[in-house]
Parts: sequence; C-alpha cells; structure tokens
Amino acid sequence: VIHERPSNPGAGDEDRPIGFGRIQRKEDPRFVRGKGHYLDDIVLPGMLHGAILRAPVAHARLVSIDTTNALAHPKVVTVITGKDLLGLKLAWAPTLSADVQAVLVTDKVRFQGQEVAFVVAEDRYAARDALELIDVEYDVLPPLVDARKALDPDAPVIRDEIEGRTDNRIFDWEIGDKAETEAVFASADVVVSQEIVYPRVHPAPMETCGAVADYEPVEGRLTLYETTQAPHAHRTLYAIVAGIPEHKIRIVSPDIGGGFGNKVGIYPGYILAVVGSIVTGHPVKWVEDRSENLMSTSFARDYIMQGEIAATKEGKILAVRTNVLADHGAFNATAQPTKNPAGFFSIFTGSYDLKAAYCTVTGVYTNKAPGGVAYACSFRVTEAVYLVERLVDILARKLEMDPAELRLKNFIKPEQFPYANKTGWIYDSGNYEPAMRLSMQLAGYDELRREQKEKRARGELMGIGVSFFTETVGAGPRKHFDIVGLGMADGAELRVHPTGKAVVRISVQTQGQGHETTFAQIVAEELGIAPENVDVVHGDTDQTPFGLGTYGSRSTPVSGGAVALVARKVREKAKLIAAAMLETRPEDLEWEKGRWFVKGDPSVGKTIAEIAMGAHGTVALPEGIDGNLDAEVTYDPPNLTFPFGAYICVVDVDPGTGHVKVRRFIAVDDCGTRINPMIIEGQVHGGLTDGVGMALMEIIEFDEAGNCLGGSFMDYLIPTAMEVPDWETGFTVTPSPHHPIGAKGIGESATVGSPPAIVNAVVDALAPFGVTHMDMPCTPARVWAAMQGRARPP
Ligand code: CDP
Repeated sequence: VIHERPSNPGAGDEDRPIGFGRIQRKEDPRFVRGKGHYLDDIVLPGMLHGAILRAPVAHARLVSIDTTNALAHPKVVTVITGKDLLGLKLAWAPTLSADVQAVLVTDKVRFQGQEVAFVVAEDRYAARDALELIDVEYDVLPPLVDARKALDPDAPVIRDEIEGRTDNRIFDWEIGDKAETEAVFASADVVVSQEIVYPRVHPAPMETCGAVADYEPVEGRLTLYETTQAPHAHRTLYAIVAGIPEHKIRIVSPDIGGGFGNKVGIYPGYILAVVGSIVTGHPVKWVEDRSENLMSTSFARDYIMQGEIAATKEGKILAVRTNVLADHGAFNATAQPTKNPAGFFSIFTGSYDLKAAYCTVTGVYTNKAPGGVAYACSFRVTEAVYLVERLVDILARKLEMDPAELRLKNFIKPEQFPYANKTGWIYDSGNYEPAMRLSMQLAGYDELRREQKEKRARGELMGIGVSFFTETVGAGPRKHFDIVGLGMADGAELRVHPTGKAVVRISVQTQGQGHETTFAQIVAEELGIAPENVDVVHGDTDQTPFGLGTYGSRSTPVSGGAVALVARKVREKAKLIAAAMLETRPEDLEWEKGRWFVKGDPSVGKTIAEIAMGAHGTVALPEGIDGNLDAEVTYDPPNLTFPFGAYICVVDVDPGTGHVKVRRFIAVDDCGTRINPMIIEGQVHGGLTDGVGMALMEIIEFDEAGNCLGGSFMDYLIPTAMEVPDWETGFTVTPSPHHPIGAKGIGESATVGSPPAIVNAVVDALAPFGVTHMDMPCTPARVWAAMQGRARPP
C-alpha cells in the first residue's frame, strides 16, 4: 500500500520524462536475467583458492602450529601462518580507528573465529579440507565476554601485546556541557532514566565478503577484485600497508550483493588473498562462508546506554544526558571519521529543541569480533535515535501524555533552521510537524487509539509505537571528517561524446542502491540528456576519480552533489561553444533543459548533442575551450544533510506465546529533493525490514566461554516477507539549502527510524503488565517473560 501525498506543490513534478522521477532501474535487466557479475563469478587463468583456519576458542595463547600434514595434501600449494607474516611485516594491519588488528594470530587468540592460518590450494574444497590437517595447540585463557566487566581490576587484559597496557579501556570521550546539563536536570519537574541496550547485530548482506588477488610480479602490479564499498580508500590503504606503489594497484569492486557497512573495512581475508598471490605467483580467490561472515567480519551497535531525560510537568523536554559503554571487541576496528570515536552518536539530542545535553562514551575491548560498523546508518546515529526515542516514550508514559503529542510539543520549529543543537551539529533544514501530522493522518492515529482502548478492555494486546528521527548523513566536509587521514570529499568526471551520449564516472560504489540509474538522472536533470543515454561508471579505481566510498548514506549528499556540479560545468562550457556556433555572445543565450537558445528568439538554438558534435568537430572554438565537452570536479560538501522522518508502528502481541506481529507500519520520510521516488521507496522498504529484524529477531550473543551464538542463519534470524507487513509510505519535501540539487540521503533512514517505533509499540502493547521498557530483540521468549513480570530467560 503506498500513500503518496505530496506536501508541497513542487513534489508533483516527479513524473517529468527527463531527469528526476519514477523511472525503472537501469541495472535491473542485468540482475533479473542472472547477468550480474559478482566477486564469486570472477575466474582467472591459473587461479588458486584460499581458506582460513579460525580459532575455536575466544581467548588463548597460541602454543604451536604444525602445518606438515596440510602441506602434504596433494592439492595444497602453500600454508601461511602468523610467523610467515611477521617475516613480511604484515602480521598486524592498521584498522580504520588508529588501532592494529592481527591478520593471522601470532601470540594470542582474542576472539572465537579469529584468523589463525591461510591455506592456498588448487580448489576451494581442497583448501577447506586441508584446514583440518593443521594441528594447533592452544593454551586457553579465561575470556572477557561482558563489557560491563571489562574495566574490573581483575579482568583479563586482552591487548597485552601493547606495551604498558594494563586494562581494556580504548577511549573516553565526552560532548556537551556537563555543568549546564546538571543544572537543568536539578531544576526539572520530571526526570526519567533507563538503561537501554542496543545489542550487537550484524549487517548480514546476502553476498558475503571476498577477494580475488592477482599480483603480477614482472611489473609489480596488483589487481584486487574485492567486495568493497570504498575502492579508492582501500587502494591507498593497501599501498601504505603492503608497500606496493599506489599507481600499481587497481581495485575493482564488481556488482555487490548488499553492503550495509559490512564491506567498508579491510579484512584479514583480503590481505591474505594478496599475500597468497604474491607467494604463489597465481591469482588467489578467497570467499568467506556465512558463518565466517557472521562470526568474524564487522558487527554493529553493541552500546549499553544509561539515558536520562528531564522535562517540565507540562511536557516541555529540557535536557538529555547519557553514559555509554561501547563494546568494540578485540581490536578497535570501528569504521568512522577519525575525530569521532563514537561516530555521530552525539546527535542523541534528536529532533527536539533542548536547553542542554551531555554524553560520555567509554570504549572497551572484549573477546569478541572487532568492528562497530555503521550498519545501514551514519556512524552510530542509529544508537542515538533509539536512545532518545525510547526516552521520549518513557517520559510520555510517566507524564501520561500521548507520545505523538509529546513529540509535536517539543520539535525544533521550522524557523529555527539552520539549527545549532547542543552538541555541535548544525541541522541544515527541517519541517517536522507536517511529517508527524502526515504519518498520523495516514495511520488514522486517533482511530487506532480508540481501537486499542476497546481491545485492551477485552484483554487483547495491541500496541502503537511512534518514533521521529533526524539523521546526519553525507560526510564531509573534509575539514571536519576524514577516515585515516583521507578527507571525505568525492570526485566526478563527465564526458559527453560527439553524438551527445554521456559517461559519468563516480567514486562511490553501489551495493544495490541503484546508482547507475539515479546518477544518470542527475546528469539528465542538469543537461537534458535522457537517463538511458548516460552511462554511470563506478567500482574500478583505474576508471574513476578518487573519493571515499559509499556508507553513511553519503552517495547522494556527496557524490550526488559532485555529479550535479560537473554537469553544470559542462553546461557552462556548452554555452560558450553554442555562442561560437550561433555567432552570438554567451550572455545572449538562455538555457532550457537540453538546449541553449538565443534570448528572444527560441527558434535559434543548439541542443547538447549538437554542441557536443560542434566541440568535437571543426567549429572554431572560443578562447580557453579545448576540443571536447568534458569536465571534472571534486565536491567538498559545506555541511552534512539532515533527513528526517515520522514513523508509526502497530503491533499485536499474542498473550499466549509472546509473539509480536507487526500489523501496520507507516513511514513518512523527508530526504529533500527526490531523485527517483521508486528507488527511494525501495530503500525505505529495505530499511524497515531491517528494523523489524533488529527489533524482533536479530542478535549476536556469546556464552560465558565466549562462543558466538549467532554464527548461522539458524540462530541469527533475519526477517523475510513473512515477518513484515505491507509498508505504507508517505513523504514531505524539505530540500537541503546547501546541496546543489537540494537532496539529502535516504538509504539508511528507515533502519535508523524503525527499531524505536517497533519497540515503542511492543512496550505500549505490554503497558497493562506495567512494562515500561524492554531490550531488543523482542523475541517471543523475552516478551513472554516481560508479561510474567519476570527477568528475561537465559
Ligand atoms: O550512499 P547510499 O547510496 O547508500 O545512500 P543514498 O545516498 O541515500 O542513496 C540511496 C539511493 O536512493 C540512491 O540510488 C540515491 O540516488 C537514491 N536517492 C534519491 O533518489 N533521492 C534522494 N533524495 C536520496 C537518494
């Protein structure tokens, strides 16, 4: 069910034939016919296959490794151990967060599933078989599983290889004004507090991670096919880590079956494929299986948040404060801009006009897989939104106010934008009340509340959950945001061929978001070339300009800006050429989509195709114009963009089993100018489904021995079409004032906004039992336990 209700007159323009609008995805014919070209489709002559031996325990000294029997396997070519890597100075690799991570264990195992040895064999089966022929002796140590115990004086020190280290503290970070916040809390009528846990989850993309490394020793060239969301940043990092000159490295990122943050980092498997290729002189393919993906590549979240909210008794929210314990696993490999150890968590002030806010975050090591990626979110904005939206709901209950009304009362007002919040962000634009009202209207909010009252009287458990979120997406600017020293700006190059067909080269890498369509639409909108006549090239560092990659919904805010500007540059160049062709002055020309014409005489003009032919032909070109219609730019965005949305979820809870059914979900999103509404809806549907997974099903847990309990899809449950309702979507349009086309990101809004709406609905359904909070995932067992007034079962 789709309710598309434009909230402003301009929004109806979406069906224009050229440029923005609901056009079908250019990449889909390839995907629906099975012609996608993914990493595992790559087969090179003489290619060998790698497999990783992983640690069966979470914490142990490595006593010895004997590879004799594995090497005797007729199809095994080589076995690489940590000792070999020490010799190559590759045993430890820098992480994205100024730490190092073991590529293969040399001294101590630090999490279950950690990489211990790498077998290279003639085929994948032989490589996997040979893993069982490696004899490893471990001296098992007590594991540290509970982050709450990480800083206890008797906690085992996980990173004892770092000289002088005596504890598991990674960082302490604070933001906001502590004294001001304390003063506001001290004078508030009402204060509510709650421990809120955002559990460890995993992005679990459909395609797991993998690499094919092809090192060519004569010229010293490395071609690396990789499932990566950031090919250019990877190239630079490989050059630094492996010492291969950057101009001799080519990273190719083929079609990618979902990333969601899982494919941002550089994993040991990628580096091992490279080492394997250098050592054997053959291309080496490594592709992880599902359990390896869930157990060893980047997790997300894992924040234990102590939250407090202060308000007047009339429901004016005054301040929010929180202490966070962040479990980063065995190595600090969290992916985020360098200056932000807790990512963008500091936007926990949400969509509300506060007097004060303060937060501290302490990061700790535990015996768990490293990571902390932005799983379909912009660097911890998901945790921040979940915290504030749960707190607002708890406050509403305490004040006996309707949760939607409480939010409406506290929104930042339209005239307050650009809005400086209390932790240093400048929200670019927003108009929150219409979005909230539209979602209430689409939901039939008052009617739902009436229905709930009736059902409650009959003992039925119906819940209505509301959430409102503001996101921070599109890092840079580069002066504020870098990843390991690489500033977050993106390049774009545009070539218009003589016949008027165009190729735009971008630095971001799609993982299914439809960039081949939407970036062509941006060129189409700016130049008037039909989108089908614009090819989008991405995912090959030899073919595309430098840029930081796709994550944190930064493609449209950053590369989208770059593409609009490069098209405008071509348009301006076309104007000069058109003037020469028409023997007139450039200032006498006027633009209409696709064509420059003489002011006052629209019949005299030149289309972009005619101008392209002129530029490449024999027309005498004006001074300073070379013979083509090409341009390039690097776009350093002046600020992030701040999309927002209002979500309402309706659940029914089975009182006999504790099973939660999401009956309805209404999502109103505002991502500024909408390039392709169909793609936007697809992004929202996917994110909402993700939200159902996190709220109700997904968790990576560990037992006391440090065994990962979420290592397969039998244990780590992800939602299917069976668990989700027909999504009901709507939108408002509040353009970004600083983005060239006014667009904000959309890819992650729904993942960010939906978990609090669902949990708020579950808690609302359980209100008759006196339940005021429960932690995700709201599985039947946990819900049932909450209904019994008992602690959650083990
Ligand atoms: O960085 P990522 O591509 O994951 O996220 P995004 O920039 O939010 O874009 C996701 C998809 O939605 C892309 O194909 C965008 O071009 C499209 N989109 C759109 O059509 N209009 C917007 N205002 C934002 C995104």
